[in-house]
Amino acid sequence: MPVRHAFDVDPDDHCETPAEAYDDIVKTLDFIASESGRSKGGLRIYDPYFCDGAVVRNLASRGFHSVHNVNEDFYQVTREGNIPEYDVLVTNPPYSGDHLERLLLFCRDSTKPWLLLMPNYVYIKPFFETTVGEKRPFYIVPATRYEYIVPQGVRRDHTVNTAPFMSFWYAGMPPAMATKFFQWWREADLESAAGLPKPLLAGKQSEIPHNMRAQYDSSRRRLRKKQREAADRRKRKRGEEAVTERLRKRAQETCRYGSDCTRTGCWFSHPEKA
Ligand SMILES: C[S@@+](CC[C@H](N)C(=O)[O-])C[C@H]1O[C@@H](n2cnc3c(N)ncnc32)[C@H](O)[C@@H]1O
Repeated sequence: MPVRHAFDVDPDDHCETPAEAYDDIVKTLDFIASESGRSKGGLRIYDPYFCDGAVVRNLASRGFHSVHNVNEDFYQVTREGNIPEYDVLVTNPPYSGDHLERLLLFCRDSTKPWLLLMPNYVYIKPFFETTVGEKRPFYIVPATRYEYIVPQGVRRDHTVNTAPFMSFWYAGMPPAMATKFFQWWREADLESAAGLPKPLLAGKQSEIPHNMRAQYDSSRRRLRKKQREAADRRKRKRGEEAVTERLRKRAQETCRYGSDCTRTGCWFSHPEKA
């Protein structure tokens, strides 16, 4: 049954964060928990944008049990001063209208760390510079392109995966925490939780790998035809490996719709039906 949202929604904004994107920030969240004096399970994570509730499930299955992601209007909550107490803001925002700008303003004015999963074109937008630009944002860039999940009933009658653009994590921390974090990242063994290739930490825009940079970033190096073809082959191979790994993991997880699941091509297991 599709969710009834407590705010106006552009259906194109419905795209849930894929589980593997959380794998890439598990260690960072562990670090923030220890800096905030919290246990992993007690780290208060705030995702202000609500889609279908996968956020809570995905973070809980990675050991983060204090997650606020509920069906409420972020802007109304802000206006009324009802923002929940939190240690870190983690979200994948809607891209329509002025949502991105409003979120970045919120992050600029907050003293808490933030991790925003956004398309690669955001850092070249003028509003990026005028909002969080001075806050020395940094980037956690995945080894492979993330595929988002459009929940059942939103655009089609079944769940679909979509990867319309490159995306990565944009991050901000108070300066003292950020300095410690960079040192910690260098020293820590950052093998990703799922055993997939590890993400890269880019301290500034010029450290974002060229193949992940925005199309209209004038500093982005264009490859020659042969290099492009070779890169495409490598990307396809990496993508196929990542998909196989993802399917293997999903087949081990249990579908939340249980034996009532009618989704076409559901990837999860249904022990009740077995
Ligand atoms: C790209 S989705 C991501 C959802 C979730 N944060 C995640 O990471 O999976 C963005 C969602 O923002 C929600 N949204 C749009 N306007 C909102 C608002 N004013 N308050 C809260 N959520 C909103 C939409 O329902 C949409 O599904």
